[in-house]
Amino acid sequence: MRSFLPSLFLAVGLATALSAAPQPGAVETKVLPLLVVKAAHLVDPATGRVLANQAVVIEGDRVKAVVAVADLAKIIPAGTSARVVDLGAATLLPGLIDCHTHVTSQPENFYEDIFRKSPIDEAVTAHLYARRTLEAGFTTIRNVGADNYIDFALRNAIEAGKIPGPRMLASGPALSATGGHGDLNGMSPYVHFAGNIDGIADGVDAVRKKVRENIKYGADVIKMLATAGVLSEEEAVGAPQYTQAEMNAIVDEAHLWGKRVAAHAHGTEGIKMAIRAGVTSVEHASFIDDEGIALAKEHGTWLVMDIYNDDYIMAEYGRLGYPDKILAKERLVGRTQRENFTKALKAGCKLAFGTDAGVYPHGWNAKQFHTMVVWGMTPMQAIQSATTTAADLLGWPDKVGQLAPGFYADLIAVSGDPLADVTVLEHVGFVMKGGQIVKNNLTAEPAERME
Ligand code: ARG
Repeated sequence: MRSFLPSLFLAVGLATALSAAPQPGAVETKVLPLLVVKAAHLVDPATGRVLANQAVVIEGDRVKAVVAVADLAKIIPAGTSARVVDLGAATLLPGLIDCHTHVTSQPENFYEDIFRKSPIDEAVTAHLYARRTLEAGFTTIRNVGADNYIDFALRNAIEAGKIPGPRMLASGPALSATGGHGDLNGMSPYVHFAGNIDGIADGVDAVRKKVRENIKYGADVIKMLATAGVLSEEEAVGAPQYTQAEMNAIVDEAHLWGKRVAAHAHGTEGIKMAIRAGVTSVEHASFIDDEGIALAKEHGTWLVMDIYNDDYIMAEYGRLGYPDKILAKERLVGRTQRENFTKALKAGCKLAFGTDAGVYPHGWNAKQFHTMVVWGMTPMQAIQSATTTAADLLGWPDKVGQLAPGFYADLIAVSGDPLADVTVLEHVGFVMKGGQIVKNNLTAEPAERME
């Protein structure tokens, strides 16, 4: 080891000095080829404007510049060759961000999912859902809740370039009280699943330990279940399931390790307890009241309201064998959550796009844009919630959510005008992640040479 470092430095020196004839094992310094993506329109969520005839100049995995096509020569020195992808009349946008997914799973049948499948079934199919999500234009997701650390393995494989998928922030198992939303309720007390790695923890010391354990194995963010939920068999949908002391401990511990906390909370009281504890975002926020809205504004807490999936649950979950108790809970939540979304929007809360995809099919993430517009957002606001606002929530405001110099070259394109009809985002024709084209249905011949 002692002799390794000096020889590495020497190799770098040689490669720079004699770049025409690099020594074996030397590090080459290469000029990266430029890639240009141009289109008739570009939505800039940072300014809320749409620009005409723009070109995004990409170097490696990053955006180097965004310029009017007419000014391209100013950015690309004469004599430099660059690959150009001309998307014609299409509209370019930054890659979309879903702040609330469960990308490792998708329900098929209530009892079969529980009793006939193991975590290995989930592990072998998760990559399909990751790919569908990416191909739907979601180049970044925050995955908030997956048992058995399957989300960490998925994220790592995507990061290593082994499988296609969105950039992922992953939480691992969601912290839950015994009998809470993250527990398996309603079964015989004799039913146990050996070896399942979940997020069950009770009491201040145990929740702190669970946060540490999640971080030890790879959590980017901590998810806690502050109140009861819909798709689990406990009684009330909104009852708090952690004490204030437990919520405070979870947030405090996460912050010690530099991590943010997302709190699942439907109930009025639990929402306020989570905000007071200092969580970064409240998920669902279904029964938020005026005081909760005021508290969220005061604390700068993001609300992530999954207002599309009620349609899917009510249409499909009976067929999937979900118990009536669960369907009855959804009936309580669906409409009120949408009304409270409008209230929170009017009050000026920070609303980040999060769908709970995994409750409904992966790849359908963009269906929520329409619901958001029906319930009061302008299409631009809905797009901002899934780009700039979402990037702020993730703590990546300088990495994703915008097409600007230094940001990841994550971009999508649609034919049609998403500001006139936001549903065109349900049919993304072109997806690039980190400078690599992962989908292109817009042009038959994507590549050409530019002098
Ligand atoms: N994962 C959530 C829960 O089980 C889904 C709630 C879906 N319903 C809704 N209206 N957002 O609580």
